[in-house]
Amino acid sequence: APHPGAWRALLFLVPAGVPVRSGDATFPKAMDNVTVRQGESATLRCTVDDRVTRVAWLNRSTILYAGNDKWSIDNRVVILSNTNTQYSIRIHNVDVYDEGPYTCSVQTDNHPKTSRVHLIVQVPPQIINISSDITVNEGSSVTLMCLAFGRPEPTVTWRHLSGKGRGFVSEDEYLEISGITRDQSGEYECSAVNDVAAPDIRKVKVTVNYPPYISNAKNTGASVGQKGILRCEASAVPVAEFQWFKEEIRLANGLDGVRIENKGRMSTLTFFNVSEKDYGNYTCVATNKLGNTNASIILYGRYGRMSLCFVRMLCHAPALRLNLACRGM
Ligand SMILES: *[C@@H]1O[C@H](CO)[C@@H](O)[C@H](O)[C@H]1NC(C)=O
Ligand SMILES: *[C@@H]1O[C@H](CO)[C@@H](O)[C@H](O)[C@H]1NC(C)=O
Ligand SMILES: *[C@@H]1O[C@H](CO)[C@@H](O)[C@H](O)[C@H]1NC(C)=O
Ligand SMILES: *[C@@H]1O[C@H](CO)[C@@H](O)[C@H](O)[C@H]1NC(C)=O
Ligand SMILES: *[C@@H]1O[C@H](CO)[C@@H](O)[C@H](O)[C@H]1NC(C)=O
Ligand SMILES: *[C@@H]1O[C@H](CO)[C@@H](O)[C@H](O)[C@H]1NC(C)=O
Repeated sequence: APHPGAWRALLFLVPAGVPVRSGDATFPKAMDNVTVRQGESATLRCTVDDRVTRVAWLNRSTILYAGNDKWSIDNRVVILSNTNTQYSIRIHNVDVYDEGPYTCSVQTDNHPKTSRVHLIVQVPPQIINISSDITVNEGSSVTLMCLAFGRPEPTVTWRHLSGKGRGFVSEDEYLEISGITRDQSGEYECSAVNDVAAPDIRKVKVTVNYPPYISNAKNTGASVGQKGILRCEASAVPVAEFQWFKEEIRLANGLDGVRIENKGRMSTLTFFNVSEKDYGNYTCVATNKLGNTNASIILYGRYGRMSLCFVRMLCHAPALRLNLACRGM
């Protein structure tokens, strides 16, 4: 423990807050502000000369070292040098609460003088809380949150990565979307940026549900005895389920020589061997939990009859009678 006499001398040195200047004396001369990253070591140096009789380093108004005597109970604080030119201490494993003013206090020719240095602690940007992936219905309001920590305080931005509305959408920790549309679904990226280290980046997926919308349903031709395929395409989230009807009758997969296949947005109705009775008006119904819609698709006879008739016409034309293709007609 320090000698009681030292206490008195040091109390006398406890800084008045503002660096003291007197005459042309330039001591003590502390370095410029010290900037270190969290976890690193900070060295606080104070230049002195041989007129200096007492020296101390203080953290705010708390003495860390007085001469070679350690007053701080913090084992991260060590003395580096105490010579007649330099008086330095080091703080290991610096943390954010160490940030602040440190004072080098000296006594020269019975005059106390102080010099202040700011320890600045930098922390890389880090996202500490972010919204989870979310699923909403079209038209609802959504708020995404991205809270970040760092020193200096990071700038937080939101960007829409997928869909049509790409680009920056918010320069704030909160991203509010009111009346969300299907085009606003997809991935949103939050970046926390400061100049200490690489940005911290995380993504949130926003799924927007909407009822089915049939985007493709074309009337299709097929000839008797051939394969015929009707296609029905619907966009929907969640993905639509399909049903096929002919007039009021629901078609079942595998019955009457038809197969129904659903792959993502597309449903196909396949006739393996088209017959006359297959021609007609079919309805494709697309359903999800938000609603349903339907479209009519006609399966009509293609060149089957039409081309036969065309060939007969040609064969009956006198100029073509000798054509081998027309033999037997
Ligand atoms: C040192 O840091 C303090 C507090 O952040 C600031 O007010 C002062 O201007 C800085 N001085 C220098 C020389 O950068
Ligand atoms: C400096 O003072 C602050 C506030 O009292 C304290 O939290 C911190 O641990 C101190 N740091 C050192 C290195 O003494
Ligand atoms: C993140 O923020 C939410 C909403 O404010 C809160 O309920 C949750 O507890 C936070 N999570 C963490 C890990 O802090
Ligand atoms: C298609 O159906 C017709 C009439 O039922 C039949 O004569 C023909 O053999 C079938 N073709 C095939 C490839 O199954
Ligand atoms: C097919 O049926 C739908 C409804 O069942 C009807 O609205 C549509 O007009 C029909 N199409 C044709 C070409 O008959
Ligand atoms: C097709 O949609 C119309 C209009 O929404 C509806 O009246 C009809 O019942 C639907 N048909 C089927 C087979 O679902």
